Amino acid sequence: MTVSIKSPEELDALRVAGRLAAQLLEMIGPHVRAGVTTDALNDLCEQHTTEVLHSRSAPLGYHGFPKSICTSVNHVVCHGIPNDKPLKKGDIVNIDVTVIKDDFHGDTSAMFYVGEPSIQARRLCETCYEALWVGIRMVRPGMRLGDLGHAIQTYAEGHSYSVVREYCGHGIGRQFHEEPQVLHYGIPGTGLVLEPGMVFTIEPMLNAGKRHVKLLPDGWTVVTKDRSLSAQWEHMVAVTEDGVEVLTLREGETPP
Ligand code: MF3
Ligand code: CO
Ligand code: CO
Repeated sequence: MTVSIKSPEELDALRVAGRLAAQLLEMIGPHVRAGVTTDALNDLCEQHTTEVLHSRSAPLGYHGFPKSICTSVNHVVCHGIPNDKPLKKGDIVNIDVTVIKDDFHGDTSAMFYVGEPSIQARRLCETCYEALWVGIRMVRPGMRLGDLGHAIQTYAEGHSYSVVREYCGHGIGRQFHEEPQVLHYGIPGTGLVLEPGMVFTIEPMLNAGKRHVKLLPDGWTVVTKDRSLSAQWEHMVAVTEDGVEVLTLREGETPP
């Protein structure tokens, strides 16, 4: 396994890309309302990315992905393709954005509520956000990725949710997806030992029902097999000399 250590210059570029990705989520949040289509959200993001952020959308054309962002509604786990179906009150939607600025990627996602979510939907989204931060807080030199995965899994399952196994966090830099793979489940005391200068995402997917997923015939959309609700949050982090730096914090974001 070859996990790159980013130079101070590369870290600066990743800070910029991460900040721009966070800004894109800040921009799109207020547009997530009943009656709006995910196509419209996609177009707003594409325009903002090029015209305001002077960046590129990484998903567009990535292995043939047809749109600029991923929009995953209700029982869609990840990689939902924006479409012309209007959002409706009570929907929960993950918006996952990745921008490329000066050759470096910034990748982050968040859950948004369309009107008032059900108590169950809100609890799933909040627990998933907390699970992400359980992981983030553990990151420091010398810790192992198996411990991180185990902690996220323990937190999620302790709240009676399941953790999706087929998709994971990833190293990031000039490439969208680099080593290491960052699993959101795992065995304590195993896995990669973190070093300063490593940069990766943590992006747990939690299901209200069973963990199993299936891929729709469009080749992208991942849904829960039992059609239960699913939530995901994603941040990009750098391992520092003594801890962690979150590169995709949003304005006013207050960690739990
Ligand atoms: N942004 C996703 C991630 O967090 C990847 C999306 S790939 C795409 O890794 F092609 F579906 F856009
Ligand atoms: Co992402
Ligand atoms: Co990612």
